[in-house]
Amino acid sequence: MILYKQISALKAFISQNKQEGNSIGFVPTMGALHNGHISLISNCKSQNQITVCSIFVNPSQFNDPKDFEKYPVTLEKDIDMLEKNGCDVLFLPSVNEIYPNGFSNPPHYDLGYLETVLEGQYRPGHFQGVCQVVHRLLDIVQPHNLYLGQKDYQQCMVIKKLVELTKMEVQVVINPTLREADGLAMSSRNMRLSEKERQQAVRISETLLFIQQHIKPGFTGDLKQRAVQYLTAEGFKVDYVEIATAASLEIIDSWDGNTPLVALAAAYLNEVRLIDNMLLN
Ligand code: PAJ
Repeated sequence: MILYKQISALKAFISQNKQEGNSIGFVPTMGALHNGHISLISNCKSQNQITVCSIFVNPSQFNDPKDFEKYPVTLEKDIDMLEKNGCDVLFLPSVNEIYPNGFSNPPHYDLGYLETVLEGQYRPGHFQGVCQVVHRLLDIVQPHNLYLGQKDYQQCMVIKKLVELTKMEVQVVINPTLREADGLAMSSRNMRLSEKERQQAVRISETLLFIQQHIKPGFTGDLKQRAVQYLTAEGFKVDYVEIATAASLEIIDSWDGNTPLVALAAAYLNEVRLIDNMLLN
């Protein structure tokens, strides 16, 4: 695996490979890698000649400074995992390389409704930061294909919108959520859970599964309310449990029995905020 810290060297490598007719696949991450990330790398490898992974803990997408400070960093292990799984290139830029002009006057992306609900509502500014860094990274890497995880359902929609707004020529490929044996969605933040919290954490995916198994046409508000009550009783501080249309993330309270739906949840176990989602039908 080749490691690039400088944009110029990475760009030269990419353009050389493009000239040779190689397709470039890109997996952006914030490191603290787990098998969910690796599933993206594997899928990218199967569809492209060159797989580029980036590790960059992007300050501008953290609305909570404590979350940024405590974001896990496991660089040596990450490099080892990427090498073992055949990643071709790791891009490991500094903050200065990505934001040479600092953080004043950030661009604004017109994300509309998407930014007003769920993660957008509970993490103000988060998706602007995600767009800022993904726009910058795509501009540098110029991949043919971009690999994202359904684990961050709303982020996938936001990045698709970013690609549309900026008219970048890249195919967005969404990969299914990888889970631990008990159902907990793999996440870098799981590393911050104590043993007891790790046991509790599985209640989120169980709750989403319960919604998936019990959703019926008609009023859905009671199902959501039960889910919030259950998680609260299990020791979570719940930001939301919502049922929304899978295509546009419109929050619904009543279901026609046909429209594809997704259930999404965000909740804290003490300091650690976890999110998950599940397609319902
Ligand atoms: P990060 O949380 O490191 O996730 C990187 C990619 O891995 C994202 O596309 C995410 O959805 C995917 N991923 C995370 N957990 C997964 C799982 N259990 N199964 C499958 N895929 C999973 O998301 C970010 O970083 C950042 O916001 C980023 C897009 C890199 C911009 O900074």
